[in-house]
Amino acid sequence: MIGELLPPGVAWAERFDDDVAEEELFPEEQAAIARAVPKRRREFATGRWCARQALRDLGLPPTPIVHGERGAPGWPPGVVGTITHCPGYRGAAVAHAGEFLTIGVDAEIDEPLPPGVLDAISLPAEHAQLDRPGPSWDRLLFSAKESIYKAWFPVARRWLDFTEARVTLRDDGSFAADVLVDGPLCSIEGRWMRAGGLLLSAVVIPAST
Ligand SMILES: CC(C)(COP(=O)(O)OP(=O)(O)OC[C@H]1O[C@@H](n2cnc3c(N)ncnc32)[C@H](O)[C@@H]1OP(=O)(O)O)[C@@H](O)C(=O)NCCC(=O)NCCS
Repeated sequence: MIGELLPPGVAWAERFDDDVAEEELFPEEQAAIARAVPKRRREFATGRWCARQALRDLGLPPTPIVHGERGAPGWPPGVVGTITHCPGYRGAAVAHAGEFLTIGVDAEIDEPLPPGVLDAISLPAEHAQLDRPGPSWDRLLFSAKESIYKAWFPVARRWLDFTEARVTLRDDGSFAADVLVDGPLCSIEGRWMRAGGLLLSAVVIPAST
């Protein structure tokens, strides 16, 4: 599914189950999640499986992917990438840093956000676009912002609040964001899709930007 949102040159893999043995993780990865609850260990292992499949498709060998700064995945030198998981979905996308500056993908279930969450993750100016037929637009807004953050952070190396990007969700499967703080990326384009009860969003920024 996620491949529909990604341009040539971005390798990806996804799974809809957690049938990945934790023993397949590298020792440093196992250490990183040793104290986590089983659900978290399973999603972590499946996310790493996806990441290594995608790296393999880029022609790269298996390598540990431990967390770097603020939880961002630590990719091998010369690689940019992103990982996501939500109930029923795990995915990863990677690319050569010479071709792409950064990537962010996010998966969410296609259901309205729990009460109270929208106000925390949105700007008032974003609300009018959420009242129309289609997917759970509020959840899609959240997903787009998560993708934006995952792409933003490895480049900016700073926190970006949900209120620091103004997102426009388009019916055609694209979205646009104005980043409202100074930084390396002020205008971001992304894509989204809805399938199988899921919402997927992706931000892919070419290296030449
Ligand atoms: C980090 C965050 C984006 C993760 O999103 P999520 O929907 O909760 O969870 P997902 O399963 O989709 O993604 C988790 C993965 O994100 C990646 N991730 C975590 N922190 C990251 C960071 N700082 N930069 C890039 N990727 C990050 C990790 O790979 C993580 O998976 P892993 O721990 O198994 O390696 C989210 O928890 C968060 O902190 N959001 C607040 C910031 C934000 O979104 N601002 C909006 C700006 S408009």
